[in-house]
Amino acid sequence: MSAEIPAPASTTAGNATLTIEGKSYELPIIVGTENEKAIDIRKLRDTTGVITFDDGYANTGSCQSAITFIDGEEGILRYRGYPIEEVAQSADFVETAYLIIYGELPTRAQRSDFSKRLMDRSYVHMNMLHHFEPFPSNASPMAVLSAMMNTLGCYYPKMASNNRQQDMEFFDESATILISKVRTLAAMAYRILHGRPFISPKPDLPYCENFLHMMFSEPYKDYVASPEVSRALNLMLLLHADHEQNCSTSTVRMVASGGANLFASVSAGISALWGPLHGGANAAVIDMLESIRREGDDGRRFLEDAKQGKKLLMGFGHRVYKNYDPRAKIFKEATTKVLEQLKINDPVLNIAKHLEEAALSEPYFIDRKLYPNVDFYSGILLRAIGLPTDMFTVMFAIGRMPGWIANWKEIAQNKKTKIHRPRQIYTGPTLRHYVPIDQRG
Ligand code: SDX
Repeated sequence: MSAEIPAPASTTAGNATLTIEGKSYELPIIVGTENEKAIDIRKLRDTTGVITFDDGYANTGSCQSAITFIDGEEGILRYRGYPIEEVAQSADFVETAYLIIYGELPTRAQRSDFSKRLMDRSYVHMNMLHHFEPFPSNASPMAVLSAMMNTLGCYYPKMASNNRQQDMEFFDESATILISKVRTLAAMAYRILHGRPFISPKPDLPYCENFLHMMFSEPYKDYVASPEVSRALNLMLLLHADHEQNCSTSTVRMVASGGANLFASVSAGISALWGPLHGGANAAVIDMLESIRREGDDGRRFLEDAKQGKKLLMGFGHRVYKNYDPRAKIFKEATTKVLEQLKINDPVLNIAKHLEEAALSEPYFIDRKLYPNVDFYSGILLRAIGLPTDMFTVMFAIGRMPGWIANWKEIAQNKKTKIHRPRQIYTGPTLRHYVPIDQRG
């Protein structure tokens, strides 16, 4: 299964000259396959004694990667070189997951084998049911899912050994287990936290249909997903499959760099994704739109608050995109189409469209290059499918699983991987000595 991912290929293009206190240093410039350039500072501290400072890493490349390319200024996103628009138009989530992990679109035989492996692994060990019982009913499904990823690794000690060579030998199996079972565990979290019986997977169902079955079927009646809903869920998941070195993927790489296994690394990724500035934004957008609707605001009052820094326009802005997030465009069209197909009139869709139109004509947003991102419309689509808001970020995690897995593999297969250990600029007290308590006044 594991077609070797070609090592990231970069070249050098001359040097940058850095002058510190009158002394000049030559630093090589690295060039990627899309002509992105970086100053190679791997020897900076050894040769100059100084480090760089880049709070939030907005100007720092943490790695070389061959998985996803983003051009934020042009609004370009490509998975292994394929434009997201073409992948969204023609692929489903399983094919996209294969592409992200193995670097190539699967042949018919590879696709069939991958799908069967996913279907065969949709069950979880019955003992896992007991791990859900201690959670309070108001626990976040994200907290449960993160915990369950590490718990799942306990059932596969050979592939979650933290012996990199051994874990890599089981990579195909652990990748398939995670992509298949994250869906089952997510549905279990939802059902059990809502006091409903867990619905066993139906291995003969395709990936998304099986998940919706586990979410919405009842012991007395099977839920059968319509083609429109299945297509919408496939699109939602594949649009989230990977996205360069975002907060959660960087977390997966950070944890992997210490030699931790794939289960532990994606568990950390889920925790990082949970935050409202990252994967939690899709649910926050719905809360924002609903509050605008409840207050009878047409969005203008909210935008005024955002312009004064009192509120964030959730689903807007991006560290990399300084243009329209191409995924947001696709989501906007798909959400409008699916609501029409399903004959759903969700008032927040119109509020979102009006809000977007108003924001994009506001100098505050224009000057800061703030555009809709992946989260602005995705929640409306998830709601149309019937998913509750507390499962929105879980859906993001299911979609991002292939990207986390592929990034873990780039770390684990690279013999030159170094543990991620950034430096800092210390701003605390300078040297002082201990004073016994009876002399402290
Ligand atoms: C995802 O990295 C990825 O690739 C992430 C992701 C992925 O696929 O993995 O694309 C998924 O996480 C998308 C982002 C989801 N989050 C949100 O929608 C939350 C709202 N957005 C903001 O919190 C913000 O835009 C971030 C976090 C997304 C980006 O923050 P940055 O790059 O650190 O930018 P910043 O906070 O420095 O903002 C620059 C200026 C500031 O104003 P000034 O200080 O210049 O006056 O823009 C303002 C910010 O106040 N600003 C916003 C805003 N986003 C930025 N003002 C109002 N509303 C917003 N949404």
